[in-house]
Amino acid sequence: MTDQSTTNASWGGRFSEPTDAFVARFTASVDFDRRMYRQDIQGSVAHAKMLCKVGVLTAQERDDIIRGLEEVRIDIERGTFEWSVALEDVHMNIEAALTQKIGITGKKLHTGRSRNDQVATDIRLYLRDEIDTICDELTRLQQGLIALATQEADTIMPGFTHLQTAQPVTFGHHLLAWNAMLERDYARLQDCRKRANQLPLGAAALAGTTYPIDRHYTAELLGFDAPTENSLDSVSDRDFAIEFCSASALIMMHLSRFSEELVLWASAQFRFIDLPDRFCTGSSIMPQKKNPDVPELVRGKTGRVYGHLMSLLTLMKSQPLAYNKDNQEDKEPLFDAIDTVRDSLRAFADMAPHLIARKADMREAAMRGFSTATDLADYVVRKGIPFRDAHEIVGKAVAYGLQTGKDLSEMSLDELQQFSSEISADVFDVLTLEGSVAARNHIGGTAPEQVRAAAARALQALAQR
Ligand code: ARG
Repeated sequence: MTDQSTTNASWGGRFSEPTDAFVARFTASVDFDRRMYRQDIQGSVAHAKMLCKVGVLTAQERDDIIRGLEEVRIDIERGTFEWSVALEDVHMNIEAALTQKIGITGKKLHTGRSRNDQVATDIRLYLRDEIDTICDELTRLQQGLIALATQEADTIMPGFTHLQTAQPVTFGHHLLAWNAMLERDYARLQDCRKRANQLPLGAAALAGTTYPIDRHYTAELLGFDAPTENSLDSVSDRDFAIEFCSASALIMMHLSRFSEELVLWASAQFRFIDLPDRFCTGSSIMPQKKNPDVPELVRGKTGRVYGHLMSLLTLMKSQPLAYNKDNQEDKEPLFDAIDTVRDSLRAFADMAPHLIARKADMREAAMRGFSTATDLADYVVRKGIPFRDAHEIVGKAVAYGLQTGKDLSEMSLDELQQFSSEISADVFDVLTLEGSVAARNHIGGTAPEQVRAAAARALQALAQR
């Protein structure tokens, strides 16, 4: 990377002294926007084709430009391209290299456009590609969860409220709760993609251009749904990036909840799951340790994505129309949000199908927490006792269980009848964990039969993507 004070060839005409070397570095974005080189070239190729179609470039000029840009791309990918801070950003670096390769025709590429609409186009193209990758990772994670949920449809664990044992649920049902969150996350990303997929190119600096451009043609070449409606808005707003960060913040929030449960469950205190060794690390001092680093790290990374959302909202706040240099600051938060959410999803998609349920421990925990107390109350209600009184009766039975170290299902009929004479031998059907989950047999309920049906519907939803 070269770094000297130079007169900028792209806009230096009206300047009487070269840019200060520090200012050049301070205002340059090439260090971070060069990652959009492919999209920048893609946009330029489409722009050159459009300029030729409307008679601004000859077919020869168009072909020279496309060939030159292709060579530039190869140089970049081979690592032989010399990026220059003096050339500020990815756009001017590529244009200068093109001119070096094909001569004066290279200087015609920028006809009828500005870096303002060019960068707005590049970011949208870049984000669109990344949204597609992220959505693929989301789908992969969901596939893993649904497969595991089907396999664990009958596995019983305690369900919690306030992290206190509440009622038995099936592990499959719990896994499908995660899937339901991710399903909405996917829909939010698709919705964001729709609004991002509009072509700003043609807005030029801010007001449009005097050349007879064909924006519909450029939009079609680049796979955009349509050209944007207003040139001032096109070069200035970054709401699509904010929207992406907002959807990403929600994804990370969901993954952090998911992570937290994995961390708890993998602990010696819960012992609900085993994480495969390849997703964990050891301790340099405590030989016995196997730490759930991947979920911990994902939980931790949630903060940076929330931060990027705040950065972008604040970046955009109060900006007057149209383009302001402030907007150059959109890239680092957006790129880091993209990298973080994509890699976190990838780690989870790799790991989720390999979670090992410790069924006996889960069952034992459900057994120990009086998780069928509500079932006993419902049973007494069915015998004609008002729910509030039933609640009191079962409360006393639980107190007795705490004293004697017995679960409700472990008490004898005589013992249970101390609390209500309405209780008879059929009570044991509802006091078992299996009876409890099987009874919640309606759409959205935890019964194994419902879990299997819900998993089938969830798979079908994935197949329709
Ligand atoms: N590097 C700039 C950005 O990221 C490109 C647009 C610059 N436009 C300008 N008129 N200085 O926003």
